[in-house]
Amino acid sequence: MTNSAPARRLLVTGASSGIGAATAAEAASLGWEVIGMDLRGGDDLTASPRIISCDVSDERSVESAFAELAAIWPEGPDAVVHSAGIYRVTPLLDTPAEDWDRTISVNGRGSFLIAREAARLMRDGTRDRSIVLLSSIGAVRGDAHEPSASYSASKGAVSSLTRQLAAELGLVGIRVNAVAPGVIDTAMTTLMNTPEVADAFFATRVPARRPGTAAEVAQACLFLASDRSTYISGAIIPVDGGQSVL
Ligand SMILES: NC(=O)c1ccc[n+]([C@@H]2O[C@H](COP(=O)([O-])OP(=O)(O)OC[C@H]3O[C@@H](n4cnc5c(N)ncnc54)[C@H](O)[C@@H]3O)[C@@H](O)[C@H]2O)c1
Repeated sequence: MTNSAPARRLLVTGASSGIGAATAAEAASLGWEVIGMDLRGGDDLTASPRIISCDVSDERSVESAFAELAAIWPEGPDAVVHSAGIYRVTPLLDTPAEDWDRTISVNGRGSFLIAREAARLMRDGTRDRSIVLLSSIGAVRGDAHEPSASYSASKGAVSSLTRQLAAELGLVGIRVNAVAPGVIDTAMTTLMNTPEVADAFFATRVPARRPGTAAEVAQACLFLASDRSTYISGAIIPVDGGQSVL
């Protein structure tokens, strides 16, 4: 993104870490107004970006966070990048049902709740508005070495939700897209903890032969959030160094 894109009001969830933090920082550097939401919220009202405490899987918590947001931005954000999420690696046979429920709840239910509350604030149809969800390569590719059935299923739900909401919310002027990262070097990622496994993985499975950075994913999120993408809706854009084509 270049700084000639008109400034927008951007809500970023998961803004305390990784892709969300990089998206918030890059947007702020472009002169956009940014407010974050995260489990790890801050009490400091002067912090930049301001982070509203919120558990995205909890309906009351999300409603209360959006009430706080609406008090600051009564017309709502122009764009939302919903990056909050969790990752669990567990072989299927060892996966407790509670782990499955938690992953589906944070990643799937969280995407639904954030999109619903955002749309309630953004549906006036007066200008281009955009919601960007975070799917994953896990939605379209299995992985025997890092088994994470609940995560993959949750991100499949995010991709389906993206297409459905693009159809539904287009009627009120809101575009809905998703970014589907491959292996990105953030706190969430465990692959790089075993360098020899990581080296073999990147040599054989990723045309770019390296992990991506949070900043590289942030660029795609901000493109979809900005008025540079006003005719793009219902798209799920891989940011995976080419991994999904192999
Ligand atoms: N890192 C990767 O390789 C990768 C790959 C594909 C998709 N993704 C997706 O990108 C998004 C961001 O991942 P990341 O790598 O930046 O992870 P991260 O762990 O660095 O950041 C996730 C953020 O979400 C917040 N969060 C977690 N649960 C929450 C909840 N219930 N309510 C509110 N906030 C919550 C955390 O506090 C954290 O700040 C996630 O949706 C993830 O699934 C990441």
